[in-house]
Amino acid sequence: MSTGKPATQYKAWKKLQELHSSKQSKLVLKELFNSDSKRFSTYSKEFKASSPDVSILLDYSKNLIDEEVLSTLFDLAREASVESFRDDMFAGKHINTSEDRAVLHVALRNPPADQGGFKINEAGVDEVHGVLQHIKEFSESVRSGSWKGYTGKPIDTVVNIGIGGSDLGPVMVCEALKHYSKRDLKSYFVSNIDGTDLAEVLKLCNTETTLFIVASKTFTTQETITNAESAKAWFLEKAKDQAHVAKHFVALSTNAKAVTAFGISESNMFAFWDWVGGRYSLWSAIGLSIALSIGYDNFQELLNGAHELDKHFKTAPLEENLPVILALVGIWYNDFYGAQTQALLPYDQYLKKFADYFQQGDMESNGKSVTKDGSRVDYETGPIIWGQSGTNGQHAFYQLIHQGTKLIPADFLAPVETLNPISGGKHHEILLSNFFAQPEALAFGKTEQEVREELGAEASKNAALVKSKIFEGNKPTNSILFQKLTPGTLGALVALYEHKIHVQGAIWGINSYDQMGVELGKVLAKNILKQLGNESDVKGHDSSTTGLIHYYQKNRK
Ligand code: F6P
Repeated sequence: MSTGKPATQYKAWKKLQELHSSKQSKLVLKELFNSDSKRFSTYSKEFKASSPDVSILLDYSKNLIDEEVLSTLFDLAREASVESFRDDMFAGKHINTSEDRAVLHVALRNPPADQGGFKINEAGVDEVHGVLQHIKEFSESVRSGSWKGYTGKPIDTVVNIGIGGSDLGPVMVCEALKHYSKRDLKSYFVSNIDGTDLAEVLKLCNTETTLFIVASKTFTTQETITNAESAKAWFLEKAKDQAHVAKHFVALSTNAKAVTAFGISESNMFAFWDWVGGRYSLWSAIGLSIALSIGYDNFQELLNGAHELDKHFKTAPLEENLPVILALVGIWYNDFYGAQTQALLPYDQYLKKFADYFQQGDMESNGKSVTKDGSRVDYETGPIIWGQSGTNGQHAFYQLIHQGTKLIPADFLAPVETLNPISGGKHHEILLSNFFAQPEALAFGKTEQEVREELGAEASKNAALVKSKIFEGNKPTNSILFQKLTPGTLGALVALYEHKIHVQGAIWGINSYDQMGVELGKVLAKNILKQLGNESDVKGHDSSTTGLIHYYQKNRK
């Protein structure tokens, strides 16, 4: 089990504080590289798997670390019992202590034990392959056209209705693996309670050929159930007969009772279990829209790629372990350099939703301020995750990363091979030249002398211009190069970041697997909803909230 202790109690934590004070001025990337010609080979590691074929190179040499810092970070991981906590997760121990639940997204991509899978003891784990079989059969029947709508036509449109983890994973993966998708089966995603989201999607749908997937672990989420009810009303307005719902609505949930109460039969329900966290659920029944889009075999390859990375995480020594390295380097900036954010910058258009996905993955997991034993932390926990695909980001926010006042550690990700080698691969070479150039510019910058040489005579006339063109450099980055964006590679990349989050949570002593912080707003909104009808019902609020509600009530039409 993770110690659940405040991280500041560890000896290694104290040593890292000292190292930060004594070394900060010496950890200069230009000097570190000049003094060590082997720095790249020392601080880069490759993850390789053969089935599916995945290779991921992590270059962490452009970080503000040296041997002493790194070995102390590994000491910290050991002191925080990262290895036994990891093993507890894989064994099905209830590491989500506040909810007394196991955390077993790794079981969703685990092959059967007789095919080399991990042995996991938890109710439901032995049902995983049965649900996968259900997903396989159903997705194949829809994709082949043998599943017919109420007028006998095949399905050509799939609408996933879900929010948070029941939306973001499928959205990200369907976008990332669009290359492998069945183009004549359109996929849409509705998440927001704002009626605009559903209304705009429904304009693109035909009742006779649309399949609605209602994706909700709890099947109580207000947004999802309201959107699903409205979608059903829209459907029945045309289809008339309640019996037709069976051909057009399926549910992904752990809550069979609520699913049947909604009007979806259990045979149209794809089950999962309470040990699947919402933000870790794309590997479960929640991935049905993925299997429909890219086909079951590709979905299975996604799971297999993640499983390969799981094996690496479970067995590689800490010093060789990619998720552990990413986690420790992140902690170095988050807790000792005071960095508030972490940018995820994929140089692959298909990964344009990757940062959005891990905004929930990381921030809902590690946005906590009490340890598992209930103490208020006096150090920073989860970073703010943000980013977008390169090169778009370069023309939007990179200015601040290069020359602003904030330290923004950034992960750059790119494929060696593109899936779209148009114009003889010219686009990809330009893309990759930027992928290589940005971390280089961030690390090594441009000195005043270089600026002066560039400006020539003008430099002596315009001191301010000289200053504005200096790049201080020494900005840390990780570079992640993977071979090609295949389903297996995507699975491994997602698992890499999932486990990074797990390791950081273990070191901070927090519970990465609950999300109590989203509850209060939900409760208040329910109460306010009841009061919106009449001005006189608006009670129990501060003057600001009351004033805002009254303004709305006076001005609504
Ligand atoms: O945002 C809170 C949350 O519980 C997430 O963890 C979850 O992914 C999302 O709501 C949706 O929940 P459900 O799948 O139960 O509808």
